[in-house]
Amino acid sequence: MNPDYWGMGLATEVANLLISFGFSQLNFHRLYATCDPRNCGSIRVLEKVGMTKEGRMREDLLIKDGWRDSLLYSLLDHEWFEK
Ligand SMILES: CC(C)(COP(=O)(O)OP(=O)(O)OC[C@H]1O[C@@H](n2cnc3c(N)ncnc32)[C@H](O)[C@@H]1OP(=O)(O)O)[C@@H](O)C(=O)NCCC(=O)NCCS
Repeated sequence: MNPDYWGMGLATEVANLLISFGFSQLNFHRLYATCDPRNCGSIRVLEKVGMTKEGRMREDLLIKDGWRDSLLYSLLDHEWFEK
């Protein structure tokens, strides 16, 4: 995302809209997200929308500077509707 717009709550708002669409319109039971463990902003967004950290997947993604770990987060439909 354009750095000029970081920290304004936009990613959190988009994540909440996508989650709401997934659970309310598409009737998903579970949603998951992954992120770079070094990306504190992304981690914070996933926490703010109520996702639970399930663990760390080791070297699951090959990027330009080598293999990268990913954090795995998830959210279940009843957790979302209880919120
Ligand atoms: C990560 C990213 C998508 C978040 O988007 P955003 O619109 O800035 O996110 P929000 O404003 O909704 O929330 C960001 C939260 O992270 C926090 N945060 C951001 N950088 C942080 C850091 N280095 N350490 C701790 N918290 C941080 C903010 O304070 C905010 O939390 P708060 O509301 O409790 O204060 C955006 O910052 C970005 O594009 N970053 C660079 C590219 C990137 O890393 N993309 C993801 C690739 S997987």
